[in-house]
Amino acid sequence: MTSRPFGVGLTLEDDRQALFILRHHRRFPPASHTLVEQVSERIFILASATREPMDDGLVFFHGREDSSFSAMATTPAFANLTLVRHPLVQHKMTLLRDRRTPTKIFKELVDEIAMLMAYEATSELSLDRVTVETPLEQATGFQVSGKKLTLVPILRAGLGMVEGILRLVPSARVGHIGLYRDHDTLEPVDYYFKVPSDAAERDFFLLDPMLATGGSAVSAVSSLKRAGGVRIRFLCLVAAPEGVRRLGKAHPDVPVYAAALDRELNAQGYILPGLGDAGDRLFGTR
Ligand code: PRP
Ligand code: URA
Repeated sequence: MTSRPFGVGLTLEDDRQALFILRHHRRFPPASHTLVEQVSERIFILASATREPMDDGLVFFHGREDSSFSAMATTPAFANLTLVRHPLVQHKMTLLRDRRTPTKIFKELVDEIAMLMAYEATSELSLDRVTVETPLEQATGFQVSGKKLTLVPILRAGLGMVEGILRLVPSARVGHIGLYRDHDTLEPVDYYFKVPSDAAERDFFLLDPMLATGGSAVSAVSSLKRAGGVRIRFLCLVAAPEGVRRLGKAHPDVPVYAAALDRELNAQGYILPGLGDAGDRLFGTR
């Protein structure tokens, strides 16, 4: 086994195609040597695993000589999904799931996680080169170019994600979409819609902590598109496979960012293991 920087992945023609990137190490721990088979100089395939695979059964370690690990991952099973796996996000998510976490702390955690996720979700915004005068001389810098960012929380629970993101992007506008899920049909019922009128000119971040059946997200994206929105990203904290699939099918152009991809939905449409009813926990209305 090589001791040079390396990666683990599917048999890909080009390692830049690796879809699900977790973390890589400078060398494999000795115990893992039986697990991997080298298929090219820099790409390995996971042959067997001694513990539960994460998320979707495919675990990649991707060799890159200049980094210790990637905070983000997309999965081959859900091409529209990016998991934000930063350690701080995972730590805070665990506190958020804990049933003993009181409303005040729950609210603070949603706010902080949303901010950390927005840091990742804005990583591909394009930049314009600008010059500024320092006290000493002229310097070249960058500013985020083009379209104005607009946050659109889905009421109610999406409201909890707004302030954290606004701390990163204080000039962002805020629209609102009012939706609730009918308890019996689990289908969304919409009651409010307001976004800036120049929707076609804007980059939208649609916010909702929970992507469960996906009904609310699909409806919210459809409403935004009807209003002229074209560049839309969906940011949630917990996603269920059903919701990611439904949103991807209805709106394949909308990237989804989540802090966790959970196992499944229960008969009442709640995400398992999930964190319960996000709106009730945020606003103390249980
Ligand atoms: C929750 C959540 C999402 C929706 C997700 O809202 O905040 O909007 O359910 O479920 P879905 O993916 O199956 O549509 P809820 O309807 O409980 O409204 P609330 O935020 O007002 O509590
Ligand atoms: N809405 C929530 O708040 N929680 C879930 O688990 C599913 C939908």
